[in-house]
Amino acid sequence: MSTFQSDVLQGKVAFVAGGTSGINLEIARNYARLGARVAVMSRSQERVDRAIELIGAQGAQVMGIAADVRDYEAVSAAIESVVKTFGKLDIVVSGAAGNFVCPAEQLTAKGFKTVVDIDLNGTFHVLRAAFDHANSGCSMINISAPQSTESFWGQSHVAAAKAGIDMLTRSLAAEWGPRNIRVNAIVPGPIEGTEGMARLTPTPEMEKMITTSIALRRYGSTQDIADMATFLATNAANYVTGTIMYCDGGQVLSGGGAQHAFMEQLQKQPS
Ligand code: COA
Ligand code: NAP
Repeated sequence: MSTFQSDVLQGKVAFVAGGTSGINLEIARNYARLGARVAVMSRSQERVDRAIELIGAQGAQVMGIAADVRDYEAVSAAIESVVKTFGKLDIVVSGAAGNFVCPAEQLTAKGFKTVVDIDLNGTFHVLRAAFDHANSGCSMINISAPQSTESFWGQSHVAAAKAGIDMLTRSLAAEWGPRNIRVNAIVPGPIEGTEGMARLTPTPEMEKMITTSIALRRYGSTQDIADMATFLATNAANYVTGTIMYCDGGQVLSGGGAQHAFMEQLQKQPS
Protein backbone atom coordinates (compact mmCIF):
# COMPACT_ATOMS: atom_id res chain seq x y z
CA MET A 1 0.00 0.00 0.00
CA SER A 2 1.38 3.41 -0.89
CA THR A 3 0.75 6.57 1.09
CA PHE A 4 0.80 8.67 -2.11
CA GLN A 5 -2.00 9.59 -4.51
CA SER A 6 -2.27 6.65 -6.92
CA ASP A 7 -1.37 8.62 -10.09
CA VAL A 8 1.37 10.84 -8.63
CA LEU A 9 4.00 9.43 -11.04
CA GLN A 10 1.70 9.04 -14.06
CA GLY A 11 3.65 9.62 -17.30
CA LYS A 12 7.08 9.38 -15.64
CA VAL A 13 9.80 6.93 -16.66
CA ALA A 14 12.04 5.44 -13.97
CA PHE A 15 15.27 3.45 -14.19
CA VAL A 16 16.29 1.51 -11.07
CA ALA A 17 19.80 0.04 -10.97
CA GLY A 18 19.82 -2.95 -8.61
CA GLY A 19 16.01 -2.93 -8.81
CA THR A 20 15.48 -6.70 -8.75
CA SER A 21 15.72 -7.36 -5.02
CA GLY A 22 15.09 -5.94 -1.55
CA ILE A 23 14.85 -2.19 -1.05
CA ASN A 24 15.41 -1.25 -4.70
CA LEU A 25 12.76 -3.71 -5.93
CA GLU A 26 10.26 -2.15 -3.50
CA ILE A 27 11.16 1.29 -4.85
CA ALA A 28 10.57 0.07 -8.43
CA ARG A 29 7.27 -1.57 -7.46
CA ASN A 30 6.10 1.56 -5.70
CA TYR A 31 6.91 3.74 -8.70
CA ALA A 32 4.97 1.34 -10.94
CA ARG A 33 1.96 1.32 -8.58
CA LEU A 34 1.92 5.11 -8.76
CA GLY A 35 1.75 5.22 -12.55
CA ALA A 36 5.38 5.26 -13.74
CA ARG A 37 6.81 3.09 -16.48
CA VAL A 38 9.72 1.29 -14.86
CA ALA A 39 13.00 -0.31 -15.97
CA VAL A 40 15.10 -2.44 -13.62
CA MET A 41 18.69 -3.59 -14.08
CA SER A 42 20.88 -6.11 -12.27
CA ARG A 43 23.39 -8.87 -13.08
CA SER A 44 21.19 -11.94 -12.90
CA GLN A 45 18.81 -12.53 -15.83
CA GLU A 46 16.74 -14.78 -13.58
CA ARG A 47 16.26 -11.98 -11.04
CA VAL A 48 15.48 -9.50 -13.79
CA ASP A 49 12.80 -11.84 -15.20
CA ARG A 50 11.27 -12.35 -11.75
CA ALA A 51 11.15 -8.60 -11.11
CA ILE A 52 9.51 -7.97 -14.48
CA GLU A 53 6.87 -10.56 -13.65
CA LEU A 54 6.25 -9.10 -10.19
CA ILE A 55 6.04 -5.48 -11.30
CA GLY A 56 4.12 -6.36 -14.48
CA ALA A 57 1.51 -8.21 -12.39
CA GLN A 58 0.50 -4.81 -11.00
CA GLY A 59 -0.51 -3.85 -14.56
CA ALA A 60 2.47 -1.53 -15.11
CA GLN A 61 4.67 -1.19 -18.18
CA VAL A 62 8.01 -2.63 -17.18
CA MET A 63 11.26 -3.69 -18.80
CA GLY A 64 14.48 -5.20 -17.48
CA ILE A 65 18.09 -5.50 -18.49
CA ALA A 66 20.76 -7.87 -17.16
CA ALA A 67 23.96 -5.86 -16.72
CA ASP A 68 26.69 -5.18 -14.18
CA VAL A 69 27.01 -1.59 -12.86
CA ARG A 70 30.81 -2.04 -12.97
CA ASP A 71 30.67 -2.10 -16.79
CA TYR A 72 30.10 1.47 -18.02
CA GLU A 73 29.37 0.45 -21.62
CA ALA A 74 26.75 -2.05 -20.47
CA VAL A 75 25.09 0.52 -18.17
CA SER A 76 25.08 3.09 -20.94
CA ALA A 77 23.54 0.61 -23.41
CA ALA A 78 20.90 -0.34 -20.84
CA ILE A 79 19.86 3.27 -20.31
CA GLU A 80 19.82 3.89 -24.07
CA SER A 81 17.46 0.93 -24.50
CA VAL A 82 15.15 2.33 -21.82
CA VAL A 83 14.99 5.71 -23.53
CA LYS A 84 14.42 4.01 -26.89
CA THR A 85 11.55 1.95 -25.45
CA PHE A 86 9.89 4.47 -23.12
CA GLY A 87 10.95 7.69 -24.86
CA LYS A 88 12.52 9.59 -21.93
CA LEU A 89 14.05 9.45 -18.46
CA ASP A 90 12.57 11.23 -15.42
CA ILE A 91 13.73 9.22 -12.39
CA VAL A 92 17.02 7.40 -11.85
CA VAL A 93 17.80 5.28 -8.79
CA SER A 94 21.30 3.93 -8.15
CA GLY A 95 21.01 1.22 -5.51
CA ALA A 96 23.16 -1.73 -6.60
CA ALA A 97 25.59 -2.66 -3.84
CA GLY A 98 27.73 -5.42 -2.41
CA ASN A 99 28.51 -6.07 1.24
CA PHE A 100 30.26 -8.59 3.43
CA VAL A 101 31.69 -8.22 6.93
CA CYS A 102 35.50 -8.30 6.97
CA PRO A 103 37.92 -6.54 9.33
CA ALA A 104 40.40 -4.34 7.49
CA GLU A 105 43.44 -6.43 8.40
CA GLN A 106 41.88 -9.44 6.65
CA LEU A 107 40.46 -7.52 3.70
CA THR A 108 42.37 -8.00 0.44
CA ALA A 109 42.95 -5.24 -2.07
CA LYS A 110 40.61 -7.12 -4.41
CA GLY A 111 37.87 -7.27 -1.78
CA PHE A 112 38.11 -3.53 -1.10
CA LYS A 113 38.15 -2.75 -4.82
CA THR A 114 35.17 -5.02 -5.52
CA VAL A 115 32.88 -3.11 -3.17
CA VAL A 116 34.14 0.33 -4.24
CA ASP A 117 33.67 -0.70 -7.89
CA ILE A 118 30.08 -1.83 -7.37
CA ASP A 119 28.85 0.87 -4.98
CA LEU A 120 30.81 4.01 -5.84
CA ASN A 121 32.06 3.55 -9.41
CA GLY A 122 28.76 1.84 -10.25
CA THR A 123 26.84 4.88 -9.01
CA PHE A 124 28.98 7.22 -11.11
CA HIS A 125 28.39 4.97 -14.13
CA VAL A 126 24.61 4.99 -13.65
CA LEU A 127 24.30 8.75 -13.11
CA ARG A 128 26.83 9.70 -15.79
CA ALA A 129 25.16 7.50 -18.41
CA ALA A 130 21.73 8.76 -17.35
CA PHE A 131 22.83 12.39 -17.62
CA ASP A 132 23.12 12.09 -21.42
CA HIS A 133 19.38 11.31 -21.61
CA ALA A 134 17.92 12.98 -18.53
CA ASN A 135 15.00 15.38 -18.95
CA SER A 136 14.96 18.79 -17.34
CA GLY A 137 13.32 17.99 -13.99
CA CYS A 138 14.96 14.57 -13.73
CA SER A 139 15.36 13.27 -10.17
CA MET A 140 18.42 11.13 -9.46
CA ILE A 141 18.45 9.17 -6.18
CA ASN A 142 21.44 7.35 -4.74
CA ILE A 143 21.13 4.73 -2.03
CA SER A 144 23.76 5.39 0.60
CA ALA A 145 24.12 3.76 4.05
CA PRO A 146 24.84 4.70 7.69
CA GLN A 147 28.43 3.50 7.12
CA SER A 148 29.04 6.69 5.10
CA THR A 149 29.36 8.73 8.30
CA GLU A 150 29.50 6.21 11.19
CA SER A 151 32.30 3.67 11.61
CA PHE A 152 31.05 0.10 11.76
CA TRP A 153 33.50 -2.70 12.53
CA GLY A 154 34.39 -4.81 9.48
CA GLN A 155 32.88 -2.29 7.09
CA SER A 156 35.82 -0.11 5.97
CA HIS A 157 35.24 -1.00 2.30
CA VAL A 158 31.53 -0.14 2.48
CA ALA A 159 32.23 3.02 4.49
CA ALA A 160 34.68 4.30 1.89
CA ALA A 161 32.31 3.52 -0.98
CA LYS A 162 29.20 5.01 0.61
CA ALA A 163 31.03 8.15 1.83
CA GLY A 164 32.12 8.58 -1.78
CA ILE A 165 28.50 8.26 -2.88
CA ASP A 166 27.45 11.05 -0.49
CA MET A 167 30.04 13.48 -1.87
CA LEU A 168 29.30 12.41 -5.44
CA THR A 169 25.66 13.23 -4.69
CA ARG A 170 26.56 16.75 -3.54
CA SER A 171 29.02 17.36 -6.37
CA LEU A 172 26.66 16.26 -9.15
CA ALA A 173 23.77 18.17 -7.57
CA ALA A 174 25.87 21.34 -7.74
CA GLU A 175 27.09 20.74 -11.31
CA TRP A 176 23.77 19.57 -12.76
CA GLY A 177 21.44 21.90 -10.85
CA PRO A 178 21.59 24.53 -13.62
CA ARG A 179 20.22 21.82 -15.98
CA ASN A 180 17.33 21.29 -13.53
CA ILE A 181 18.56 17.80 -12.67
CA ARG A 182 18.22 17.06 -8.95
CA VAL A 183 20.57 14.61 -7.22
CA ASN A 184 19.85 13.34 -3.69
CA ALA A 185 20.72 10.33 -1.55
CA ILE A 186 18.79 8.23 0.94
CA VAL A 187 20.43 6.63 3.96
CA PRO A 188 18.27 3.68 5.01
CA GLY A 189 18.59 2.39 8.54
CA PRO A 190 18.33 -1.35 9.21
CA ILE A 191 15.57 -2.68 6.94
CA GLU A 192 13.76 -5.89 7.85
CA GLY A 193 13.86 -8.92 5.58
CA THR A 194 16.69 -7.70 3.37
CA GLU A 195 19.89 -9.31 2.15
CA GLY A 196 21.84 -6.41 3.61
CA MET A 197 20.59 -7.07 7.13
CA ALA A 198 20.90 -10.84 6.76
CA ARG A 199 24.61 -10.22 6.18
CA LEU A 200 25.00 -7.78 9.07
CA THR A 201 22.67 -9.31 11.71
CA PRO A 202 22.52 -13.07 11.10
CA THR A 203 21.10 -14.01 14.55
CA PRO A 204 17.98 -12.89 16.50
CA GLU A 205 20.24 -11.77 19.41
CA MET A 206 22.12 -9.46 17.08
CA GLU A 207 18.89 -8.16 15.62
CA LYS A 208 17.78 -7.29 19.17
CA MET A 209 21.03 -5.45 19.89
CA ILE A 210 20.58 -3.40 16.74
CA THR A 211 16.95 -2.66 17.58
CA THR A 212 17.91 -1.09 20.90
CA SER A 213 20.21 1.31 19.03
CA ILE A 214 17.26 2.68 17.01
CA ALA A 215 15.30 5.57 18.53
CA LEU A 216 11.99 4.21 17.16
CA ARG A 217 12.96 0.73 18.46
CA ARG A 218 12.11 -1.12 15.24
CA TYR A 219 13.64 -2.05 11.92
CA GLY A 220 12.39 -0.10 8.93
CA SER A 221 10.42 -1.68 6.09
CA THR A 222 11.26 -1.62 2.41
CA GLN A 223 8.07 0.44 2.03
CA ASP A 224 9.51 3.12 4.35
CA ILE A 225 12.41 3.59 1.93
CA ALA A 226 10.17 3.35 -1.13
CA ASP A 227 8.05 6.20 0.28
CA MET A 228 11.14 8.40 0.76
CA ALA A 229 12.28 7.57 -2.78
CA THR A 230 8.81 8.44 -4.05
CA PHE A 231 8.83 11.81 -2.31
CA LEU A 232 12.17 12.62 -3.99
CA ALA A 233 10.76 11.57 -7.37
CA THR A 234 7.63 13.73 -7.18
CA ASN A 235 7.14 17.42 -7.79
CA ALA A 236 6.84 17.84 -4.01
CA ALA A 237 10.66 17.66 -3.98
CA ASN A 238 11.17 20.11 -6.86
CA TYR A 239 13.42 22.37 -4.73
CA VAL A 240 15.32 19.56 -2.99
CA THR A 241 18.79 18.74 -4.28
CA GLY A 242 22.17 17.73 -2.86
CA THR A 243 20.63 16.35 0.33
CA ILE A 244 21.52 13.14 2.14
CA MET A 245 18.17 12.09 3.62
CA TYR A 246 18.10 9.74 6.61
CA CYS A 247 15.27 7.22 6.82
CA ASP A 248 16.60 5.25 9.77
CA GLY A 249 14.20 5.53 12.72
CA GLY A 250 16.77 7.77 14.40
CA GLN A 251 19.51 5.13 14.52
CA VAL A 252 22.14 7.74 13.66
CA LEU A 253 21.40 9.43 17.01
CA SER A 254 23.06 6.57 18.91
CA GLY A 255 26.41 6.98 17.10
CA GLY A 256 28.38 4.46 15.10
CA GLY A 257 30.91 3.81 17.88
CA ALA A 258 28.23 1.92 19.77
CA GLN A 259 28.23 -0.66 16.99
CA HIS A 260 31.82 -1.80 17.47
CA ALA A 261 31.24 -4.40 20.21
CA PHE A 262 28.34 -5.75 18.21
CA MET A 263 30.31 -6.12 15.01
CA GLU A 264 33.15 -7.86 16.82
CA GLN A 265 30.60 -10.48 17.94
CA LEU A 266 29.44 -10.81 14.37
CA GLN A 267 32.94 -11.73 13.28
CA LYS A 268 32.88 -14.65 15.76
CA GLN A 269 29.80 -16.22 14.13
CA PRO A 270 30.42 -19.34 12.04
CA SER A 271 30.08 -18.46 8.32
N1 COA B 1 35.09 -11.75 3.15
C1 COA B 1 36.21 -11.15 2.68
N2 COA B 1 36.41 -10.87 1.37
C2 COA B 1 35.44 -11.22 0.50
C3 COA B 1 34.25 -11.85 0.91
C4 COA B 1 34.09 -12.11 2.30
N3 COA B 1 32.98 -12.69 2.80
N4 COA B 1 33.48 -12.07 -0.18
C5 COA B 1 34.17 -11.59 -1.23
N5 COA B 1 35.35 -11.09 -0.83
C6 COA B 1 36.39 -10.44 -1.64
C7 COA B 1 37.42 -11.43 -2.09
O1 COA B 1 38.67 -10.73 -2.19
C8 COA B 1 36.96 -11.77 -3.49
O2 COA B 1 37.96 -12.19 -4.37
P1 COA B 1 38.57 -13.68 -4.29
O3 COA B 1 37.38 -14.61 -4.17
O4 COA B 1 39.34 -13.85 -5.54
O5 COA B 1 39.43 -13.68 -3.05
C9 COA B 1 36.42 -10.45 -3.97
O6 COA B 1 35.78 -9.89 -2.82
C10 COA B 1 35.42 -10.59 -5.09
O7 COA B 1 34.51 -11.59 -4.74
P2 COA B 1 33.53 -12.28 -5.82
O8 COA B 1 32.59 -13.20 -5.10
O9 COA B 1 34.34 -12.81 -6.95
O10 COA B 1 32.80 -10.96 -6.31
P3 COA B 1 31.48 -10.79 -7.09
O11 COA B 1 31.69 -9.62 -7.92
O12 COA B 1 31.00 -12.06 -7.70
O13 COA B 1 30.42 -10.47 -5.88
C11 COA B 1 30.18 -9.50 -3.68
C12 COA B 1 30.47 -9.26 -5.16
C13 COA B 1 31.38 -10.19 -3.02
C14 COA B 1 29.99 -8.14 -3.02
C15 COA B 1 28.95 -10.43 -3.46
O14 COA B 1 28.76 -10.63 -2.08
C16 COA B 1 27.68 -9.88 -4.09
O15 COA B 1 27.43 -10.11 -5.26
N6 COA B 1 26.84 -9.14 -3.32
C17 COA B 1 25.57 -8.58 -3.80
C18 COA B 1 24.48 -8.70 -2.78
C19 COA B 1 24.77 -7.94 -1.51
O16 COA B 1 25.91 -7.81 -1.07
N7 COA B 1 23.70 -7.42 -0.91
C20 COA B 1 23.78 -6.60 0.25
C21 COA B 1 23.74 -5.17 -0.17
S1 COA B 1 23.96 -4.14 1.25
P1 NAP C 1 19.91 -6.67 -2.09
O1 NAP C 1 18.57 -7.27 -1.84
O2 NAP C 1 21.11 -7.54 -2.05
O3 NAP C 1 19.83 -5.92 -3.50
C1 NAP C 1 20.97 -5.58 -4.23
C2 NAP C 1 20.56 -5.47 -5.68
O4 NAP C 1 21.69 -5.00 -6.43
C3 NAP C 1 20.14 -6.79 -6.30
O5 NAP C 1 19.08 -6.54 -7.19
C4 NAP C 1 21.38 -7.25 -7.05
O6 NAP C 1 20.97 -8.10 -8.13
C5 NAP C 1 21.94 -5.90 -7.50
N1 NAP C 1 23.38 -5.89 -7.73
C6 NAP C 1 24.36 -6.29 -6.89
N2 NAP C 1 25.56 -6.13 -7.47
C7 NAP C 1 25.32 -5.63 -8.70
C8 NAP C 1 26.15 -5.26 -9.78
N3 NAP C 1 27.47 -5.39 -9.72
N4 NAP C 1 25.58 -4.76 -10.91
C9 NAP C 1 24.22 -4.63 -10.99
N5 NAP C 1 23.39 -4.97 -10.00
C10 NAP C 1 23.94 -5.47 -8.88
O7 NAP C 1 20.22 -5.45 -1.11
P2 NAP C 1 19.38 -4.61 -0.02
O8 NAP C 1 19.72 -5.13 1.31
O9 NAP C 1 17.96 -4.45 -0.42
O10 NAP C 1 20.14 -3.19 -0.17
C11 NAP C 1 19.80 -2.31 -1.24
C12 NAP C 1 20.53 -0.99 -1.10
O11 NAP C 1 20.24 -0.38 0.16
C13 NAP C 1 22.05 -1.10 -1.16
O12 NAP C 1 22.56 0.04 -1.82
C14 NAP C 1 22.46 -1.08 0.30
O13 NAP C 1 23.79 -0.65 0.50
C15 NAP C 1 21.45 -0.10 0.86
N6 NAP C 1 21.20 -0.25 2.30
C16 NAP C 1 20.57 -1.37 2.75
C17 NAP C 1 20.27 -1.49 4.10
C18 NAP C 1 19.51 -2.68 4.61
O14 NAP C 1 19.07 -2.67 5.77
N7 NAP C 1 19.32 -3.72 3.79
C19 NAP C 1 20.66 -0.46 4.99
C20 NAP C 1 21.34 0.65 4.50
C21 NAP C 1 21.60 0.75 3.14
P3 NAP C 1 21.96 -9.12 -8.90
O15 NAP C 1 22.47 -10.07 -7.86
O16 NAP C 1 21.08 -9.74 -9.93
O17 NAP C 1 23.03 -8.28 -9.50
